[in-house]
Amino acid sequence: MKLFIDTANVEHIREMADLGIISGVTTNPTLIAKEGRDFLEVIKEIASIVDGPISGEVISLEASGMVKEGIEISKIHKNMIVKIPMTEQGIKATKELTRLGIKTNVTLVFSVNQALLAATAGATYVSPFVGRLEDTLHDGIQVVSDIRNMFDTYGFDTEIISASIRTQKQLSDSALVGAHVATVPYAVLKKAFTHPLTKNGIEAFMKDWEETFGK
Ligand code: G3P
Repeated sequence: MKLFIDTANVEHIREMADLGIISGVTTNPTLIAKEGRDFLEVIKEIASIVDGPISGEVISLEASGMVKEGIEISKIHKNMIVKIPMTEQGIKATKELTRLGIKTNVTLVFSVNQALLAATAGATYVSPFVGRLEDTLHDGIQVVSDIRNMFDTYGFDTEIISASIRTQKQLSDSALVGAHVATVPYAVLKKAFTHPLTKNGIEAFMKDWEETFGK
């Protein structure tokens, strides 16, 4: 499973890119707004840091507007992926952008049926929102697993981005049920590096070494 970072914060992206663990970036209107910076400027900076798929989301709700915006987003950089909301208009736009050779990420997916529609329209990625499903006591990981089984059964090339990840368990379960990608917030990624036994182990190794050989 590939790891993307789910943020528009360039410092966080740079830090994780330096560690060599992220192969893409996802943004959404909320994440861009949080940074309070111009969309184009932020996306260009992200593209200069990470050489991999970068999702930028459209704002229009009508298919024609989404297609227009999508074409503009795709021109920003060769790695751009146009993020489209999972609606009737979004699916129509996905179909058209696919016809134009533009890659898409259908977002706000909460069911197998929505993933089926997105894949049928030719989406490059679908993003089931695991965290938001689990916030409402639904099994988000089961949805990812079911989408994976359905894609494999019918030979869809569409990749699953396990999104809205809030916990370590949601991250590891995404990998175990076959998500192609997990897009992970900075804080959750940072935490994934750590384990109390790793910390204790390093301390014990250092102590034993110093007791015999000194500092
Ligand atoms: O980028 C889409 C998704 O990951 C948003 O997550 O935390 O707002 O549910 P969240």
